[in-house]
Amino acid sequence: MIIALNNKCNLDKEEFINYQQELANIRTNHQLILCPSSLHIANFNLVNCDLGSQNVSKEETGAHTGEISASQLKSFLVKYCIVGHSERRQELKETSQDINQKIKQLLKYEIIPILCIGETESERELEKTMPVLEEELLLATKDLTKEQKDKIIIAYEPIWSIGTGKIPTIEQIEEVFTKIKSIFPDNKVLYGGSANEKNIDTLHKCQKIDGYLLGGLSLKVSELKIFLKKLEN
Ligand code: 13P
Repeated sequence: MIIALNNKCNLDKEEFINYQQELANIRTNHQLILCPSSLHIANFNLVNCDLGSQNVSKEETGAHTGEISASQLKSFLVKYCIVGHSERRQELKETSQDINQKIKQLLKYEIIPILCIGETESERELEKTMPVLEEELLLATKDLTKEQKDKIIIAYEPIWSIGTGKIPTIEQIEEVFTKIKSIFPDNKVLYGGSANEKNIDTLHKCQKIDGYLLGGLSLKVSELKIFLKKLEN
């Protein structure tokens, strides 16, 4: 399985040094991808994890203050990059068109996009989950060839589940994953949203999940180890 760790906007310099030392002890058969704050990318030194970024510029290079380009990420050996996270869609007003441009930049530099999609609570209540997810997927992958699309890792993160302790039922996850895999049959699909060492036994019942995108749990290494151990069973 793919286990991607999204540290979000956490860990200062010293904390990150200690955090990496803790992560270095993890032994697992699963693939770990660490997506630290951009400031820590240059200090990444783990051999048991691949390196990911939490964001990329939609532009190639040049006068874009505060941005980090795909070519810069590539030069720091970044292999994966999260795009379309709901926090960026909501707080930074990133549009599907922006996300599409970002994916194209990443693919140009052979960085694998981890594309996040997910519905809000009200969209779910209004039974709009499937059309919302379908639209997010289709707009984000517009104009890509099948070969390019196949490289993308999709992360289903219901917005109402992120950081809330709530997870969808297995039936809801099965329904969504079946839909995603009917459109993108050859892609890995991750689940993200309040996944932890307590609910992993339940989530793990869903055979369609190819891995997890972890927020809060990524920062708690002892709990993360329990989570990974339970996944081995
Ligand atoms: P939590 O695991 O903290 O709910 O966050 C999920 C997430 O947003 C990962 O990208």
